[in-house]
Amino acid sequence: MPTIQIRGTGSYLPSIRVTNPMFEKLVDTSEEWITSRTGIQCRNLSDGEPVWHMGSQAASRALAAAGAAGREVDVVIASTVTPDYHTPSLSCILQDEIGATEAFCLDINAACSGFVYAYDLALRYLCDADVHNVLIVCSERLSAITDYTDRSTCVLFGDGAGAILIGKSEDGKEEADLRSFVSRATILGSEGHLGRHIVSRSEYTDHPFRTEAGGIQERFPENNGTFISMCGQEVYKFAVRVMVDSIQRVLDRNGLTMEEISWVIPHQANDRILDASAKRLGMDPAKMVSYIADLGNTSSASIPISLDRMVAESKLHRGDRVILCGFGGGLTYGAALMVY
Ligand code: ACO
Repeated sequence: MPTIQIRGTGSYLPSIRVTNPMFEKLVDTSEEWITSRTGIQCRNLSDGEPVWHMGSQAASRALAAAGAAGREVDVVIASTVTPDYHTPSLSCILQDEIGATEAFCLDINAACSGFVYAYDLALRYLCDADVHNVLIVCSERLSAITDYTDRSTCVLFGDGAGAILIGKSEDGKEEADLRSFVSRATILGSEGHLGRHIVSRSEYTDHPFRTEAGGIQERFPENNGTFISMCGQEVYKFAVRVMVDSIQRVLDRNGLTMEEISWVIPHQANDRILDASAKRLGMDPAKMVSYIADLGNTSSASIPISLDRMVAESKLHRGDRVILCGFGGGLTYGAALMVY
């Protein structure tokens, strides 16, 4: 067993509940299309609530669940594609909110793979003798970059935040055990040549000295400004391919079979992606965790929110082996072994 411990989990959803029929008044869609093509029935959207506030609520709940104080946190890793500010970073704002006075803080952007990337970083920091606790917070306000006239994307996304506190267990295990586990626990990958399939542009203001001739052409000229544009079918094919491949590689690297895994907690994007992946992996589909019907796609927050729900529903037990799997913008992907 690794000397890593999931000390506490927390999550937070904003107040507005949006059901599928509510989209029928906005765009040319139907409850039947959304449910049958995605599995989504409902999602929560921010009523103007900022990303940092949702994140701080989830973080405070994770600390409370762990019985830990903010000053025990050595590293805060925040993941978001919708930061409220270019600077200060989300993680620095969260540090101040939760009193993580001793921590250093960094943000990452790996879109929907963000939690798995953050978990990988957390494990690597925990190999440092001076780092005992890492707080991961994923907070997303996708409603801020969603075009509510685009039926192909607006029905998919929800807002919310999830957090976990990961620590080293004090069971006297050798540091070598920890390093050995960390070296096998994660598989990460990026396919930047497919980046055009999910694009949302940053907003900048031009300086007064700009010339007519100076601009270099947009990297993704076909995009929809700050709004997300997505080629759903391409992302779908990518998602099934990388889910199957990365999960199998994590199993192989750890000498495990799917029978020895209690749960797979994937990025919550589309039930059809999860069903197709489970089938190709030859796994029991009941082990593939889905809260998609209730949450929609909350990007990097979807895995920690699901993890927290599993804990709240007493579906996770100490020692359970769990595989996490993310895929999304970048394009990026990752799978990881976690022992709860
Ligand atoms: N209501 C009704 N019809 C719709 C809707 C809608 N909301 N959206 C699209 N359609 C139509 C299309 O216009 C198309 O019509 P046409 O045949 O007349 O042209 C038809 O439905 C089929 O469209 P497809 O795009 O082929 O639909 P598909 O079955 O592929 O489902 C979906 C679309 C749900 C987006 C799917 O492709 C998918 O889930 N892709 C993966 C998305 C994903 O996982 N994203 C994760 C990353 S997100 C991130 O990183 C922030």
